[in-house]
Amino acid sequence: MALRKIKEKVYSVGAVHWDRRLFDELIPLPDGTSYNSYIVQGSEKTALIDTVDTAVFSQLAENLGALGIKKIDYVISNHAEQDHSGSIPAVLAAFPGAKVVTNEKCKGMLKDLLPVPEEKFIVVRDTETLSLGDKTLEFAITPWVHWPETMCTYLKEDKILFSCDFFGSHMAAADLFEWTHFYTPAKRYFAEIMSPFRNNVRTNLEKVKKLDIKVIAPAHGYIYDNPLPIMDAYSEWSADTVKNEAMIVYVSMHDSTRIMAEYLREALIKRGVDVHFYNLTVTDPGTLAIALIDSATLILGAPTVLAGLHPAAAAAAYLANALRPRTKFISLISSYGWGEKAGSVVTGMLTNFKAELLTPVLSKGRPKEAEFEELDRLADDVAARHKGLGLL
Ligand code: FEO
Repeated sequence: MALRKIKEKVYSVGAVHWDRRLFDELIPLPDGTSYNSYIVQGSEKTALIDTVDTAVFSQLAENLGALGIKKIDYVISNHAEQDHSGSIPAVLAAFPGAKVVTNEKCKGMLKDLLPVPEEKFIVVRDTETLSLGDKTLEFAITPWVHWPETMCTYLKEDKILFSCDFFGSHMAAADLFEWTHFYTPAKRYFAEIMSPFRNNVRTNLEKVKKLDIKVIAPAHGYIYDNPLPIMDAYSEWSADTVKNEAMIVYVSMHDSTRIMAEYLREALIKRGVDVHFYNLTVTDPGTLAIALIDSATLILGAPTVLAGLHPAAAAAAYLANALRPRTKFISLISSYGWGEKAGSVVTGMLTNFKAELLTPVLSKGRPKEAEFEELDRLADDVAARHKGLGLL
């Protein structure tokens, strides 16, 4: 990331990981990502807020060099995950006088994850402040966005909230201050990272809203010189409401499940339900996660294979269960050759769902008239439930 001034004596000095395509060896990154790190120079002390992934530490080092930083007094660690903390040891090696400032829980996790000695830490509590001279940092403990130790750092004089993963987006761009098109990348990030913790998101959102914020500077992606659009989006995504949307996610071996999925899709559309339709063999998990945010209904389409659920559908069910979506209704459409197992496997996997199970439609081989009637019945059930919630 090019060195960039945000306010007087406040700079963005992080790194852009243009060609990273997978996070945690799990989450696709269609647009790459960035690890945003910030320098705040007070009249007496200098603080570095979060570091970067070790793979791109050289970019942080170059930016600090270009800025002529000779001394760092404090490394503020808002979050222990290594994409932000990984380069702390390298920064401490380059600036031996620096101390790591963080909360008690984060300190413990940093000591578990990195070779940082006890004497390097300064522990801060919620609302505590740290003076840099003419600039003041205030710490806001914001747990579970998205680890238990996460916190934000607020620069009082310049009204900047350094929020780490909170409000982040996986985006590599030359100008991360141009955030006009933030909505979809930020929603994907929320869906993948934050959505299981949306109650905590709501609590922390209300907490930081009490601060007078002019700039939100997350540790990934876009940096917002107007906090309202991203805060409004977080309010929407973390609310306990769903839309008149049904997602059909399916995998098909010999077309029977595909035929059922396509029939159900058209039946739902005829009844006025908005449909998301995904073939699991060509859909990335982030796309599914985004659709799960708003969909009132999830229909999984999967054949029985190897005496159980098709592995592609099992992976989707596992992901959906882990994301604890707001989904109100779920069902299954499934074809089988000689023995049906997908139904029991799927219901056993969706343990985090509080959704009502609508009677599945099972077909021995290709669907015939009776199965198409059942698919119409399922479409009626979905539409009626959506109407019952006032969505349709
Ligand atoms: Fe960007 Fe939770 O680390």
